Amino acid sequence: MPARGLFIAGTDTEIGKTRAAVSVIRALARAGLRVAAMKPVAAGAVLTADGLRNGDAASLAAAASVSAAYALVNPYCLAAPVSPHIAAAEAGVVIDTRRIAHCFRELALRADCVVVEGAGGWLAPIGGRRTMADVARALELPVVLVVGLRLGCLNHALLTARAIEAGGLRLGAWIANHIDPGLERVGENVATLERLLGRPPLALLPHETSGIAPSAPAARHTREESAARAGAQEMPLERGLELPEAAGAALLRLLRAACRTGKGRRKLLS
Ligand SMILES: Nc1ncnc2c1ncn2[C@@H]1O[C@H](COP(=O)(O)OP(=O)(O)OP(=O)(O)O)[C@@H](O)[C@H]1O
Ligand SMILES: [Mg+2]
Repeated sequence: MPARGLFIAGTDTEIGKTRAAVSVIRALARAGLRVAAMKPVAAGAVLTADGLRNGDAASLAAAASVSAAYALVNPYCLAAPVSPHIAAAEAGVVIDTRRIAHCFRELALRADCVVVEGAGGWLAPIGGRRTMADVARALELPVVLVVGLRLGCLNHALLTARAIEAGGLRLGAWIANHIDPGLERVGENVATLERLLGRPPLALLPHETSGIAPSAPAARHTREESAARAGAQEMPLERGLELPEAAGAALLRLLRAACRTGKGRRKLLS
């Protein structure tokens, strides 16, 4: 299989993209693929002896079966835990999607597949008028949308699906992540998403009470700061939830189809 990849997008920030991406990486690795990981833009990092390091990038790299230099995995690692465009401006950095595409190609040379996690929601600004959608477009990958199941997610999921397709990319699959244990009528919400997005979810990730507690970005920053003081290896690593075998097979089919059709766009919404 020629090297390809998947872009993991989310309905919002803090809805489980990293968790789902780790699960996707593990499922593809179990299926026998050499999997590399990438977090092209990260805002919220700690200064270690090796330079700035971001927790999501560390989690993805730890799950990947192909190891790579940190600078390829996370070419834009910004210190402030704020919107990437603000963190980049504060750092005097201009996020260049060509550099991101270059790092992706370098990773793709070593792997069968590169799993790329976005930052924030689909249209999170990265500078000027550019957003994370421009990063996804530069990579021309099929998108796996993680829907964080909470009140408002139906609107967020539909808006995101439409924006993905309006941007000429393909929404290849979606994953439901039960982020809010207090959400009522979970089954009805998933059924509605299935109808509106035109297909069932690849997986429904349950809410895990024993996992790392959901944290506000600022709180997470503080946590990462103390981890940095204690040593980089103690940075919190997101835990993935195991995807069912059928989901792994569906991801493989998605990758194979992407290989055949290149950047071909296919409608998912009816
Ligand atoms: N299914 C779940 N059950 C319990 N906690 C979860 C679940 N999914 C995610 N979380 C928790 O919610 C928080 C946010 O998850 P995660 O970091 O994966 O989100 P994200 O969308 O990647 O966020 P960001 O926009 O910062 O990249 C984490 O603390 C994570 O452990
Ligand atoms: Mg994340």
